[in-house]
Amino acid sequence: MSRARAAIILAAGQGTRMKSELPKVLHEVGGQAMIDWAIATAQRIDAERVVIVTSPQNKAVTEHVARRVGANTVSIAIQDPPLGTAHAVTSGEASLADFDGDVVVMYGDTPFVSPERLEQMLQLRAEKGGIVALAFEAANPAGYGRMILDADGSLQGIVEQRDATDFERAVKLCNSGVICADAKTLFSLLAQVKNDNAKSEYYLTDVVSLGRAVGQKTHIVRGEESDALGVNSRIDLAAAEAVFQKRARLAAMEAGVTLIDPETVYFSHDTEIAADAIIEPNVFFGRGVKIGKGAHVHAFCHLDQTEVGEGASIGPFARFRPGSKLGKKVKIGNFVEVKNATLAEGAKASHLSYIGDIDVGARTNIGAGTIVCNYDGFDKYRSTIGEDAFIGSNTALVSPVKIGDRAYTGTGSVITKDVPAGDLGVARARQINLDGWADKNREKKRKAKEQK
Ligand code: UD1
Ligand code: CA
Repeated sequence: MSRARAAIILAAGQGTRMKSELPKVLHEVGGQAMIDWAIATAQRIDAERVVIVTSPQNKAVTEHVARRVGANTVSIAIQDPPLGTAHAVTSGEASLADFDGDVVVMYGDTPFVSPERLEQMLQLRAEKGGIVALAFEAANPAGYGRMILDADGSLQGIVEQRDATDFERAVKLCNSGVICADAKTLFSLLAQVKNDNAKSEYYLTDVVSLGRAVGQKTHIVRGEESDALGVNSRIDLAAAEAVFQKRARLAAMEAGVTLIDPETVYFSHDTEIAADAIIEPNVFFGRGVKIGKGAHVHAFCHLDQTEVGEGASIGPFARFRPGSKLGKKVKIGNFVEVKNATLAEGAKASHLSYIGDIDVGARTNIGAGTIVCNYDGFDKYRSTIGEDAFIGSNTALVSPVKIGDRAYTGTGSVITKDVPAGDLGVARARQINLDGWADKNREKKRKAKEQK
């Protein structure tokens, strides 16, 4: 029977190297805070407890993760003040007082450690016991702790860069930070960690040599560098983003999506695109975007919390703000902004419109230059347009207003009252033609010039 599992995620550090008011672990990769990447991974290995260690200085982190605490397995432990990674794990001990099983320690600034890799570590522990650490070969190991191996390949110790000898620094095998051990063993070793090192901090990495001293077996699992990437600076953050984008692009193409120029399409962690969709260059998918089968996203579209139905066509140059839902075969053309609006199957807005806080019925056509005036400077109002309606070009729909099924609005109308089904609403000054006025005016001007 496999042992119970808990995860402790360290997020109490200040992240000084980010030079940011925002705590480091709240910086986002693929539109998701780094701490949430770690929490999601812990949940995917079915950790029955997830303890997030944060500090009073990182109040924003505590608030951010607080919404996950409660019925589920997540709890918060406070490290005050932060005195190093070993001290951080110890701060989580009380939260696991009644826990018996394996603990996986993860870092909040290391977003891509995969659940598969953690499973592999837990598996190795189940087979061989002791302490398992996740190592990776770094192209540039600067800043990482170095893994010093024994002749038999077991882990002798982890040395921080600052405390390393030249010989140790030449080692390219690095510490990802992830360590897995039996809970009781881990906490008893942590109690022995001292801070006699270059940073005067309590290093989690010391549990390896301390463990060996009391006869624990210590092993490594090797992972990819791209999985173990730790983010300490904005440069690392950009590197992590690049790793994520590259993966997201490949995953989309593998799932049957055409990306004409993959490098110019940006994804979020939760972007969902169905097969046979075509994504043209320079498209940005913010959070919560779903694109239906066979939809065509033309160049330069920006989408955020938006659903696009099967076979729909959007852009080029269209913007979709949160709460937009486009049904099957909807067509949105250039320079159209859609916000918190639903468009039913086959509805169209082909040019230059603002479609905000409105429900549009099936097959309705919205003419060029239509503006939904949804805001009066204080409140927002919602409007509806029925099915098979036709909104003339340059209509201003002053919300709240209802346009019935099959109704028309006259071009250039300012619609402030409901238009019943099947009617035409015209709200503009009636045209009058002044007989010969233009010719007479021209003659008058010509004479005035001659007299000068
Ligand atoms: C750490 C490891 C290093 C490893 C690297 C991998 C130690 C001593 N060093 O170094 O071997 O190669 O990660 O990325 O463990 N934190 C706390 N409380 C603290 C200090 C840190 O919660 O008192 C948290 C931070 O918020 C962060 C994580 O622990 O999420 C790692 O801390 P950081 O200072 O970034 O460690 P590194 O110098 O990167
Ligand atoms: Ca780090």
